[in-house]
Amino acid sequence: MIFGQILDPQSFTYTYVVAKRPGGEALLIDPVLENTKQYVSLIDQLDFKLVIAVDTHTHDDHITALGALRGLTNCATAMGEMTKADCVSVRFSDNDKLRIDDIHLQILYTPGHTEDSYSFLMADRVFTGDTLLIRDTGRTDFHNGDPAAQYDSLFGKLLKLPTETLVFPAHDYNGMTVSTIGEEMRYNPRLQVADKQAYIDLMHSHNEPYSRDLTASAKRSCGYKSAA
Ligand SMILES: [Fe+2]
Repeated sequence: MIFGQILDPQSFTYTYVVAKRPGGEALLIDPVLENTKQYVSLIDQLDFKLVIAVDTHTHDDHITALGALRGLTNCATAMGEMTKADCVSVRFSDNDKLRIDDIHLQILYTPGHTEDSYSFLMADRVFTGDTLLIRDTGRTDFHNGDPAAQYDSLFGKLLKLPTETLVFPAHDYNGMTVSTIGEEMRYNPRLQVADKQAYIDLMHSHNEPYSRDLTASAKRSCGYKSAA
């Protein structure tokens, strides 16, 4: 398998490229609009055919490259079933599968950070979006975020994966690139809670005032630059 992790230095977003072999099909996870040329150039250099670009959820801190990539490469673009983004050609739901060559990704519905948050599980790794970050979890105070749902996504799904499963999040602000489920169970301070209510209380104590225009950011989800 060929695997790449590309950092967007503005938003600290990680974009992932997955392919089986040079000349084969490729998948991009959470591409950032400003880096579209970089992705297309990499895909050309490695002789990949970009067949699908996916977002783990509606991002608020950057504009997705899904629409731009579809225009340039004719790839499929995928997000969860409740997305209203018109640049999306495939809508998935819990337990659906994505396939490129013989690589399979199982889709796990993991709401909480947003109501349209999904994780993607491969044989040895999971792409956790903003549901599970390294030593952190995604905020739950906008885009219909819900700390109770996030607790269920974490403790009912992600933390039930084998402890050696590699964790690749959508962001890291401290330079960390990868973790494991076992590492996060042990050392992630937000996972050291007695029960769901304790997690809800913890998340409420961490949510900070949000200053950006959420309506405008939602409109940008397909790559439309907002005046805001
Ligand atoms: Fe997010």
